[in-house]
Amino acid sequence: MSKCRVCEGEVRKFFDFGKQPLSDTFLTEQESGEAYHFRLAVGLCTRCTMVQLLEEVPRDRMFHHDYPYHSSGSRRMREHFAQTARDLLATELTGEDPFCVEIGSNDGVMLGVIKDAGVRHLGVEPSGGVAELARKDGVRVRTDFFEETTARLIAGEDGPADVIYAANTICHIPYLDSIFRGVDALLRPGGVFVFEDPYLGDIVERNTFDQIYDEHFFLFTARSVRGVAHRFGFELVDVHRLPVHGGEVRYTIARRGERAPSPAVPALIAEETSRGLAELGTLEKLGDGIDRICADLVALLRDLRGRGLSVAGYGATAKSATVTNYAGIGPDLLPCVYDTTPAKIGRLMPGSRIPIRSAEEFGRPYPDYAVLFAWNHTEEILAKEEEFAAQGGRWIVYVPEVRVL
Ligand code: SAH
Ligand code: TYD
Ligand code: ZN
Repeated sequence: MSKCRVCEGEVRKFFDFGKQPLSDTFLTEQESGEAYHFRLAVGLCTRCTMVQLLEEVPRDRMFHHDYPYHSSGSRRMREHFAQTARDLLATELTGEDPFCVEIGSNDGVMLGVIKDAGVRHLGVEPSGGVAELARKDGVRVRTDFFEETTARLIAGEDGPADVIYAANTICHIPYLDSIFRGVDALLRPGGVFVFEDPYLGDIVERNTFDQIYDEHFFLFTARSVRGVAHRFGFELVDVHRLPVHGGEVRYTIARRGERAPSPAVPALIAEETSRGLAELGTLEKLGDGIDRICADLVALLRDLRGRGLSVAGYGATAKSATVTNYAGIGPDLLPCVYDTTPAKIGRLMPGSRIPIRSAEEFGRPYPDYAVLFAWNHTEEILAKEEEFAAQGGRWIVYVPEVRVL
C-alpha cells in the first residue's frame, strides 16, 4: 500500500507502466544504456482524492544544470505566457511597487514580460542552464528549489509577494506541504498564489495518458486542489480551464476568508463529481485506452515499415518517453525523432535510444509518415511544416486514438 503525499491516506493504484527511464534525460550514443529507472505507477488517494505517482524520483535527478526543456520553444506558449503576464499586471500587480515571484520560471518566458513592464520580480528555478538563459534576458532568478526555507529567505531579502505564480511546476513537486508553508511565509496579506497544470479531467476525456511521467507527480482536479489548499489555511477561489498542453486548469488560491470564491469553483467540482473523476472505476478505464492505443500504434508502425515506408517521430517530448517505452517502440520501428531543442539534438530518446535530429533536417528528405509526439502543439507544427503534407507526407496522432491525418 502506498501513502498519500498530501494526507497520508491510502493510495490505490489504477495503472502501472512498469520500469521507466527519466523522461527528460537525453544520453549521447557513447553513454551506457544503464540509465536510472523507476517504477511509473499512478493511483488515487481514497481519502483526499489526489491522483499521484506511487514512486517519487529524487528531485536533483530531474532538475539540474542540464535540464533540457525550454519553455520558449513554442510560439503559442510564448503568446500564452505573455498574455498571462499582461493579465497579472492588469489585475494583481497594480499596487505600489508590486512584487511577483514565479516558481519554475525556466528560461524566463513569463517573467520577461513582467520585467519589461518594470515590475519587481524574482524567478525561483533550480535548473541552472535555463535559469542562466533567463538572466541573459535581464530576468532576476534565484537558482534554487522553491520550498519553505527558500521562501523565508526571499521574504527576508525582498519582502512579501503580491503574486506567486507557477506553470507546469506545482504538479512536479511531491512536497506540497513545504510549498504551501513557503507560500504562506512569502505571500502578502490579500495576495494570490496562482498555478496552472495539466487537468485530470482532460487527460481522462482525451486519453492523453502520456501526461503521466516522472515529472508529473500529481494530476490535479479542482476538488483535490481545493482539499490540499484547505489543509494549509488557504482556499481555492477561482478556476479557469486553459486550452494549452492538451487542457489545463489555472487555480487561484488565497488565504482562507480573504476573497469570495467564484461560482466557477463549485461548478467545476460538481462537473468532476458527475464525471466520476474521484472514482477508481473511472480511472481504471483509462488503462484500457492506454493498452489499446499502444497496441494500435505499434501495429500501424509495423505495417508501414513492412510495406517499406519511412516513418519518423516529431517532437522529443517528455510525454513521448512514456509512449515509446511502454509500447516498446525502438529505432527498428521509428529510426529517428526530429526536434528543435539544442540540448536534445544529437542525443538519444530516453530508454528507447531513438536518435534525435534537428527539425531543420526534417525535409532532407521527408519521411512518408511522422508520429506527432508534440500533439499539444499540433496547430503550430502543422502550419510550420505544411510542406511535409503538401508533398504527400502523412501525420500520425495517437490521442485520443491512433489516427492518420
Ligand atoms: N513554467 C515553465 C516551466 C515548466 S517545466 C513552463 O510552464 O513552461 C518545470 C520547471 O520547474 C523546470 O524548469 C524545473 O527546473 C522547475 N522546478 C522543479 N521543481 C521546482 C521547485 N521545487 N521550485 C522551483 N522550480 C522547480
Ligand atoms: P512539450 O510538449 O511542450 O513538453 P513535454 O516535453 O513536457 O512533453 O515539448 C515540446 C517538444 O517539441 C520540445 O522538445 C520542442 C519540440 N517542438 C518542436 O520540435 N517543434 C515545434 O514547432 C514545437 C512547438 C515544439
Ligand atoms: Zn490523500
